[in-house]
Amino acid sequence: MTRALITGITGQDGSYLAEHLLAEGYEVHGLIRRASTFNTDRIDHLYQDPHAPGATLFLHHADLTDGSGLRHVLESVQPTEVYNLAAQSHVAVSFKQPEYSADVDGLGPLRLLEAIRDVQGRTGQVIRMYQAGTSEMFGGSPPPQSEGTAFYPRSPYGAAKVMAHHLVVNYREAYGLHASNGILFNHESERRGETFVTRKITRAATRIKLGLQDVLYLGNLDAERDWGHAEDYVRAMHLMLQQDEPGDYVIATGESHTVRSFVNKVFAALGLEPERYVRIDPNYYRPTEVDALRGDASRARAALGWEPRVGIDELVRRMVAHDLELAKQELTLRKAGHVVAQRGAAGA
Ligand code: NAP
Ligand code: GDD
Repeated sequence: MTRALITGITGQDGSYLAEHLLAEGYEVHGLIRRASTFNTDRIDHLYQDPHAPGATLFLHHADLTDGSGLRHVLESVQPTEVYNLAAQSHVAVSFKQPEYSADVDGLGPLRLLEAIRDVQGRTGQVIRMYQAGTSEMFGGSPPPQSEGTAFYPRSPYGAAKVMAHHLVVNYREAYGLHASNGILFNHESERRGETFVTRKITRAATRIKLGLQDVLYLGNLDAERDWGHAEDYVRAMHLMLQQDEPGDYVIATGESHTVRSFVNKVFAALGLEPERYVRIDPNYYRPTEVDALRGDASRARAALGWEPRVGIDELVRRMVAHDLELAKQELTLRKAGHVVAQRGAAGA
């Protein structure tokens, strides 16, 4: 049984990747951060009692800012594949917390690479590593972006990810590690964090539809993104680590849409006119913006045989259907007299 370690298993991608690897027959270990409340919502449906015979999912407390803890987990788990998905992944938040973002997203992968190098050197067991790189690294470089496009990060988040990318390349060349960079364009889902723009829109529009919310405040509607579905993108991560040689791959649909167009699709699906409900709040503008992302995933298509299966309209359909169901549940609870807390996030 192949044993994989996933950092960021409680995140959107981590939860889909854990599902995918369990379905492939893997033993999956995930790193979780200690929190004062449970933060495992996205993987609760996968939970297994670790004492049960035949359990294949195990969780460990660790943090990418704590190198010794990472080393302990690697030593005890002895995985053959490590997927580094953990990150402070919100671009706008990285302007508010630049040092922390650089620590987790830039130095975190370095801590992991060092730990892998040590454990692999001592045990002789090869550990393959996937690093969650991003189209944000291209930033200001115009589309279409491919593996040969120059990096031009436009945020502390993007800059930290560029550092991680180069470290992976360097550890590959210097120490022969089987470490690969996925350069993934935006991917969304029903499990997307609610402060990323697509989910913010589908959550708000469905609540507006049911009379639970009046207005949706957004920032820059002109930005263009290449949006795919996370389920498709975790398949690509796995494929990268099955190759004989490590490498760097762009993963994208090759189609881009503006934020405005995403808004229009979502509101149209619900029979609503966006002009009546959408307002601009400049607090959501970023100090520097990434204007246009559209990826060229030719290398991944040819070398990995990877293809996206979910297009923009199916993505919108799935997210709207899911969030409409959530809004209906909220309405039922409110009608029954339950107090349903309002959630929000500062400037994101
Ligand atoms: P996400 O939903 O924000 O999940 C991030 C994960 O990282 C969560 O499990 C989070 O734990 C964990 N984490 C954050 N800080 C940590 C720390 N200091 N130590 C350990 N774990 C920490 O992100 P995602 O959308 O799944 O993205 C996964 C990865 O792909 C990230 O590295 C992201 O930067 C990158 N990426 C994402 C996209 C995209 O469009 N989704 C595109 C390109 C690249 P908690 O649950 O406790 O917060
Ligand atoms: N979050 C957010 N909130 N974004 C908004 C809003 C808003 O109210 N209004 C407009 N936007 C615009 C942002 O300015 C940006 O141009 C675009 O919507 C997408 O923003 P996000 O959904 O926050 O994603 P992102 O593109 O900045 O970053 C995501 O994709 C990257 C890959 O390109 C994240 O998942 C990153 O972790 C990932 O690396």
